[in-house]
Amino acid sequence: MKTKVINRIGVLTSGGDSPGMNAAIRSVVRYALHNNIQVLGILRGYAGLINDEVILMDHRSVSNIINRGGTILKTARCEEFKTRTGQRRAVEVIKKHDIDALVVIGGDGSYRGAQALFKNWGIPTVGMPGTIDNDVCGTERTIGCNTAMNTALEAIDKIRDTATSLERIFVVEVMGRHSGYIAINVAIGAGAEECLIPEKKFSLPKMCKDIEAGEKKGKSSWIIVVAEGAASGEEVAKKITQVTKLETRVTVLGHIQRGGTPTATDRILATYLGAAAVDLLIKGRFGKAVGIIGEKLSVVDLGVAIKKRKINIDALYRLIRIVT
Ligand code: ADP
Ligand code: F6P
Repeated sequence: MKTKVINRIGVLTSGGDSPGMNAAIRSVVRYALHNNIQVLGILRGYAGLINDEVILMDHRSVSNIINRGGTILKTARCEEFKTRTGQRRAVEVIKKHDIDALVVIGGDGSYRGAQALFKNWGIPTVGMPGTIDNDVCGTERTIGCNTAMNTALEAIDKIRDTATSLERIFVVEVMGRHSGYIAINVAIGAGAEECLIPEKKFSLPKMCKDIEAGEKKGKSSWIIVVAEGAASGEEVAKKITQVTKLETRVTVLGHIQRGGTPTATDRILATYLGAAAVDLLIKGRFGKAVGIIGEKLSVVDLGVAIKKRKINIDALYRLIRIVT
């Protein structure tokens, strides 16, 4: 089959922003230009595609952004793009600008959009895993997750100072949507006493009993990490206070986990995957998603990438109780 010649690509960031998205945009733009491919930046994700918010990008468009959080192309969530009408309007814009292929930087939801464009409309697309959740199939890492974990860890270290000084229990809720990946890794890194994640059944009454037993042995402060997909940090803190009568506070880290300057890990991952994504388009391998598995490039169909990723956390989960 004759490979479609790629002369012009579009790139967009979609869904929840993540630190490293700018490094990803920079790599896509400069690697494409190196291969004599023009690049159009699409603002505000699929909403910008539908509304024709398109800008021509050159080498200098992506200067001095590798170290910046957020995304210079902005991002959005766009319900209209889930409809055929919305997708049709997007395809008209793609055709209007002679875009031969689209690079989508986002999470599993954004991948569903890229899959729809490829499967339903014949638009060559490739996905890059840009989300802090690390919940995308076909890759062991996603752009932004490492930075988000370090941000959460830094915050929990600070919370530990006040927890030990005032001898309190702190419940810290972290992001991750339906995944416990951030929670379990941050709990280990922070030396937390407990971690509640969606992937593991847990018993609040049993946890309260453990706290009471620890208190009797002289333990005077706890850090309990709760994944937002497992439970509400507020509810868990309220329950612990009710049952143990011990002073319990809650901190919901929220969107600070989405910002900040990306770590080296995320910048390097984003740069490597940006080049890999453009390479796939040049080779005519469309409807794919790039990632990293075992330090090697992974390429899967978008249809595979959008499946729910099962993370292997049993070993880490067991460790928490042993090392605290
Ligand atoms: P993320 O990509 O971070 O998981 P979302 O789940 O919010 O974020 O998805 C981002 C955007 O992707 C949505 O706002 C929508 O525009 C598009 N999208 C999500 N699911 C679909 C779908 N099934 N079909 C088409 N577009 C979708
Ligand atoms: O998908 C990234 C993420 O930060 C999730 O971890 C979180 O649940 C969600 O986005 C928050 O969405 P919003 O920024 O729209 O509130």
